[in-house]
Amino acid sequence: MKRTLITNIGSLITVSQKTDSRGNILNAMNDLTIIQDAAILFSDTFEWIGKASEISQEIAVDHFIDAKGRAIIPGFVDSHTHCVFAGNRSHEFARRLRGITYQQIASEGGGILSTVSAVRSASIEELAQQGIELAWKAIEYGTTTLEMKSGYGLSIESEIALLKAIDIVKKEVPIRIVTTFMGAHDIPPEYAGKSSEYVELIINEMLPAVRALNIAEFCDVFTDTGYFSVEDSERILQKAMELGFSCKVHADELSSFGAAEMAGRLKAVSADHLLYCTEAGMEAMKQGGTIATLLPGTAYTLRLPYAPARTMIDHGLIVALATDCNPGSCYTPNMQLILSLACMNMGMSIEEALTSATLHGAYALKAEEQCGSIEIGKSADFNLLNTNSYTDLVYHFGVNHIAKTWCKGIAIQ
Ligand code: NIG
Ligand code: FE
Repeated sequence: MKRTLITNIGSLITVSQKTDSRGNILNAMNDLTIIQDAAILFSDTFEWIGKASEISQEIAVDHFIDAKGRAIIPGFVDSHTHCVFAGNRSHEFARRLRGITYQQIASEGGGILSTVSAVRSASIEELAQQGIELAWKAIEYGTTTLEMKSGYGLSIESEIALLKAIDIVKKEVPIRIVTTFMGAHDIPPEYAGKSSEYVELIINEMLPAVRALNIAEFCDVFTDTGYFSVEDSERILQKAMELGFSCKVHADELSSFGAAEMAGRLKAVSADHLLYCTEAGMEAMKQGGTIATLLPGTAYTLRLPYAPARTMIDHGLIVALATDCNPGSCYTPNMQLILSLACMNMGMSIEEALTSATLHGAYALKAEEQCGSIEIGKSADFNLLNTNSYTDLVYHFGVNHIAKTWCKGIAIQ
């Protein structure tokens, strides 16, 4: 692959991973490792990073770019979305603004189940098209790695249709897509009042069928009041781990439910949402090495209290930020907006938010060897901003700051 040299980078925000002398990962969220007046050389991976004045004149380069003093940051890693769905729930959103709660709408058969009925009558191609359009919107705002979950099918056939649609998205868009199976997103209407039978279906039929197709890397469960109990969630995730899936949990989003405690106990890769996470939940996550993925767009949209990010950071948890882009509780694929919400409403610094939206997102997808920071050998996934300071990402809010994006070394916009 051709080699490109970008020079005259006013500030290169590497977000490089920090380790101690034994190679243990350090949680250094305020240290972005910034190189002023920098240059980078890359093919599909980063080959050289440093001060522009220090680059060897002998290096063979195919293509030169002048960054004109602007800043470069890693591509955003959005580690939690439900971007493949059908239908539109703007009417529910409008009702919520008139005071009806998310739970009330769900109990009337709306909410997740209304998307389920739209998904069941859509074709795989229609579902994929929706995912492709949202992925391109995410790219516009600088996302280069995007997780997508199933979970709006809730039958073997429809869950597999969603996963196949995600597989089409993966082939059609130029960014990295990571797939999660979430058959345990809700109890489908045909199993109303028979939730334990649905849990058996997930364990005995859905998980093995998804594994056989080798079509998802993670398994996620919605562990909360009115959805899946801790006991059922634990059985589903144990089976998933036996089959080789890595685990995620939608944890303590609507109530303090013991879900973060379970995620830590199972050493889940991440526990997500955590609006009502307790200190005991935080401690369990720390013991289990579980990443705390916070989704402030959901608290914003549902007008719920934000997750206790500061307490989590002070507790030493590795915090990641993601959009949760979905048709019900947070309909945005824009990671720059998530940075703003995290800083203004969860008390995070810009540096902490940027680390959480890049390197820590990669941890939440077990993808830190490939992406999340600008380091030699990693995939050349990065954004050229149209400003010389990364602080504008939050200070100058509501504006798209991306001038150009590369993923795997290819200019994609
Ligand atoms: O992450 N918590 C569960 N699932 C989504 C909401 C899905 C929906 O309302 O369609 C979430 O918030
Ligand atoms: Fe979610």
